[in-house]
Amino acid sequence: MALKEEIEKRRTFGIISHPDAGKTTLTEKLLLFGGAIQKAGAVKSNKIKKHATSDFMEIERQRGISVATSVMGFEYKGVKINLLDTPGHEDFAEDTYRTLTAVDSVIMVIDCAKGVEPQTRKLLEVCRMRKTPVIVFINKMDREGKNPFDLLDEIEKELRIDLRPLTWPISIGKTFKGVYNLYEKSLILFNQGEKQSTENSIEIKDLSDGAIDEIIGEHFANILRHDVELIEGVYSEFEIEDYLEAMISPVFFGSAVNNFGVRELLDGFIKIAPTPRSRETDLKIIHPDDKNFTGFVFKIHANLDPKHRDRIAFLRICSGKFERNKNYYHVRENRTLKFSNPTAFMAQEKNVVDEAYPGDIIGLYDSGIFKIGDTLTEGEKMNFKGIPQFSPELFKYVVNADPLKTKQLNKGLEQLTDEGVAQLFTKKTDNRKVLGTVGALQFEVIQHRLKSEYSASCNFEHISLFKACWISSKNKKKMEEFIFEKLHHMATDKEGRPVFLAESAWALQMAQEKNPEIHFHFISEFKEE
Ligand code: G4P
Repeated sequence: MALKEEIEKRRTFGIISHPDAGKTTLTEKLLLFGGAIQKAGAVKSNKIKKHATSDFMEIERQRGISVATSVMGFEYKGVKINLLDTPGHEDFAEDTYRTLTAVDSVIMVIDCAKGVEPQTRKLLEVCRMRKTPVIVFINKMDREGKNPFDLLDEIEKELRIDLRPLTWPISIGKTFKGVYNLYEKSLILFNQGEKQSTENSIEIKDLSDGAIDEIIGEHFANILRHDVELIEGVYSEFEIEDYLEAMISPVFFGSAVNNFGVRELLDGFIKIAPTPRSRETDLKIIHPDDKNFTGFVFKIHANLDPKHRDRIAFLRICSGKFERNKNYYHVRENRTLKFSNPTAFMAQEKNVVDEAYPGDIIGLYDSGIFKIGDTLTEGEKMNFKGIPQFSPELFKYVVNADPLKTKQLNKGLEQLTDEGVAQLFTKKTDNRKVLGTVGALQFEVIQHRLKSEYSASCNFEHISLFKACWISSKNKKKMEEFIFEKLHHMATDKEGRPVFLAESAWALQMAQEKNPEIHFHFISEFKEE
């Protein structure tokens, strides 16, 4: 098959939601449709459970298993779908942000009773930054929830997006009858507890058809007619281009656990979701059909077996064709590498692949040469943009608990932070090391992994910090003055860039107000000024 056809066949996406909205359940149903799994429960058991928050060993174990579910590839109606798993656990939010750099679109799951929740808000912000097209799936329609019009209003206002329903629910909760497909003009009926099949779909030529009254009852039929009229009046026509430009989000309603509305979602998805998109490097825009291979690492997963310190680097292919045993250029390291056993992820199985195409994710065995964000090319020197680190929110000093193992500790910290488990800063005045994370759990994970993988011990000491932000300025003198003045609050990141450690929101605000020529950055990727 020609490169173009391979690209046209692929859809690479992720599902985002606030924990408990139904992401795992929906993932599982999609995989069942795609034949990637045979029975429900296969994904569920790999989920990092929220009640495991105090049990980080359990989380590590589940993280290990979750290598298998990191990328779930399956075919549906001739389309190759790559579904990238995003951890729902809040403490791993940064993993999720990074995974979103490797997808071309997302499905956002919303609980019909809860509406917009904090995690949804944060994740959507990342999608907005990247202009990622979003499809909304309103879940749990079998439960009592908000009025659908109110709910859509809330989502539009809270998330600042424009919506366009493509299916519409007929009642909700105990009296939920099903959905009306506004596009295909068909009724899909809901039978609680029964597996949904196409038999339940009834085509409707005209909403005034009396047959509808017989099927769902006059009361609900009239409400549906009224709702549809309102929808046509209130919402603009769905234009696929607007969705692809991330200007409008189509909405589907359903109940994942009952496998209801999932087929409509999947059919809609393969019709409209984008094929692998172009991506920006610091040199030029890379198009998927460019002849030369390019890709970037967006996730690194440690091997759980302490005897093997090797890791798996997840590479998103952006252009050209990737081939096994061919020489590729690792831009940051300025060296050529060849991969003899790259793996692809299909139907929850890992297999060695000979070739892979844009949109595909492959796993590369890594003995410590990769960092998140690394670019591979056929020789060109360039780096993919848009894989930033976010300014962390929790901080602790690292204290070496075993001075005989200083080397191991430093190596461990270096590698774990390359993996993106946390960020490492070194204070200017006393060279003390500060770890910054997004979630509290990461500290325990680091302590545990340093011990088991590097035989190093560390303790953490409290440091009172509000934010770490990167600083830059066109005015070199001002920059030097600022660093000198704030020396006790200055650190460097792993690349040696200056970072301001603000003790409080007030301290940060004051620093910003008093130093208008200094720019404070909250993500690691910014234009040097
Ligand atoms: P998450 O990955 O977004 O965290 O959510 P998950 O799929 O684990 O779903 C959270 C809970 O919501 C689960 O119940 C799940 O069964 C339920 N759920 C998912 N979709 C629907 C739906 O359409 N309707 C209803 N009524 N419930 C739904 P749980 O009790 O936490 O777990 P389990 O014991 O059922 O597995």
